[in-house]
Amino acid sequence: MRIVHTITDLRAALAGTQRPAFVPTMGNLHEGHLSLVRQACEKSDVTVASIFVNRLQFLPHEDFDSYPRTFEADCAKLNAEGCSIVFAPKEKDLYPEPQTFKVQPDAALADILEGEFRPGFFTGVCTVVMKLFQAVFGTTGGGTAVFGQKDYQQLMVIRRMVQQFALPIDIVAASTARADSGLALSSRNGYLSDEQRVQAMALSQALKSLAEAARQGGDLAQLEAQAMDALRAKGWTPDYLTVRQRSNLLTPADARSGDLVALGAARLGGADGTRLIDNLEF
Ligand code: PAF
Repeated sequence: MRIVHTITDLRAALAGTQRPAFVPTMGNLHEGHLSLVRQACEKSDVTVASIFVNRLQFLPHEDFDSYPRTFEADCAKLNAEGCSIVFAPKEKDLYPEPQTFKVQPDAALADILEGEFRPGFFTGVCTVVMKLFQAVFGTTGGGTAVFGQKDYQQLMVIRRMVQQFALPIDIVAASTARADSGLALSSRNGYLSDEQRVQAMALSQALKSLAEAARQGGDLAQLEAQAMDALRAKGWTPDYLTVRQRSNLLTPADARSGDLVALGAARLGGADGTRLIDNLEF
């Protein structure tokens, strides 16, 4: 496995490669990321994983500085999975000057849910992903990129970006890896105490209950409010628990119509606690 830090070195390492598979990450890799890498390895003989904590997608008060950086351990895990190339740019490699050109996603998709609570998040994500795509696929005739379904809205936004810019990239969605308790694996789970880790399963359970209630019919806004209250009673501070159409993340006219997804984001440990997200298609 080769480790490269600059776009020039990455392109040199990819010389002669056609359509590699790519897994973008911010590092601190867990089983969820590794399952994406395994899927990537099935798609191509050459798999690239990037490790880059992208400042552009963090708000000033968020955890950019404290985001866990575990480079050596990450590389060992990637090597064990058969990854061919790790692309680990420093900030000055990816953003040698202030990134004043940005990719502005469709507000209808990107300013709701995560975008409402983390304004500018998807502009930061799209900008870095576009840049990573150019770095990895710019000389390879495109390829495949694997994204986790845990970040449901991110996956949709990236798919739309690829479609609207006609990028020659196949986006593969990988299902969410979960602990036995149902807790979706996330780098931010590392912020949880042992006790919180047990409490944290309540988010996936809340989404399951909300989906079941929605399937029965009834007033959706009321069901969502009840689901948020139930989570609050367990010590959480929810941003949203909601049922949306899978196709566009808008509220369905009838929650018994199918092709829906329940999405949630909530903090555990007070208003400044650890923010977790999850979703469930139904
Ligand atoms: O999902 C993530 O880890 C990040 O948003 C991504 C796609 C690597 C962009 O920084």
